[in-house]
Amino acid sequence: MLKELFRNGYGRDHSAFPEEQLEAMIQRDRLPKHVAIIMDGNGRWAMRRGMPRLAGHRQGVDALREVTRACGELGIGILTVYAFSTENWQRPKEEVEYLLNLLDEVLEKELPELHAHGVKVRVIGRRASLSPQLVKKIEAAEALTASNQKLLLNVGFNYGGRAEIVDAVKRAVELARAGRLDVDDIDEEWLSGAMYTAGIPDPDLLIRTGGEARVSNFLLWQLAYAEIWFTPVCWPDFRRRHLLEAVVDFQQRERKFGRV
Ligand code: IPE
Ligand code: IPE
Ligand code: MG
Repeated sequence: MLKELFRNGYGRDHSAFPEEQLEAMIQRDRLPKHVAIIMDGNGRWAMRRGMPRLAGHRQGVDALREVTRACGELGIGILTVYAFSTENWQRPKEEVEYLLNLLDEVLEKELPELHAHGVKVRVIGRRASLSPQLVKKIEAAEALTASNQKLLLNVGFNYGGRAEIVDAVKRAVELARAGRLDVDDIDEEWLSGAMYTAGIPDPDLLIRTGGEARVSNFLLWQLAYAEIWFTPVCWPDFRRRHLLEAVVDFQQRERKFGRV
């Protein structure tokens, strides 16, 4: 019973509901504006099938494609996904290289469809450690899709929440030193504007797949009041129906923001 209760971090379990029923349950006027996803469990998905971890990362691209489409169709305006953390450099060289190449490949192969569907692509994270070729690809994808308005897809790559805060603090100090920022002007709004996510609302809903219940350095500043939904489903198995489950659960919660 307790296990059931905490299955997805909140208590309700809609995993047995048919997709059409979940769809019917969704209140279109109360959708989360911004959904963030920690796409975890790729390695375990593959190992369980006797495949190398890398196969799980590849399979994860299909899940991302489906979820991106679903967000667009539903009318969720912003999707931010965690693809590679500042800590993921500690993985075996072969896996790191595979993930770098996968971003390169996805930016190339998926871009036409994303662009055709009005998706604005942005990559958030520290670029200095990425190869000039990859940075060029990222910049080209961002430039091509810059004026698209259907869905903003932020891809966290070499992203770390602490690194992002450090970068914002450095910027504040530099501006202050140059006499262009008064210390009293530094408030939450200013800092929000100094994050990689400047100008967009904070995530309303955070989904983490793969069964872990931690934030792993994702969007530390922005997640202050996000509703969190965990699922044991590994990312490569994550489908539109799971997104619907998360949204239904989100809509059944009461957000209080510190009030009674
Ligand atoms: C998430 O899947 C993808 C990345 C972190 C790049 P993992 O590779 O962490 O998969 P597990 O958690 O080991 O199963
Ligand atoms: C978080 O997953 C990073 C991404 C999904 C890109 P990890 O698998 O790296 O997180 P930990 O190590 O389990 O906390
Ligand atoms: Mg993991």
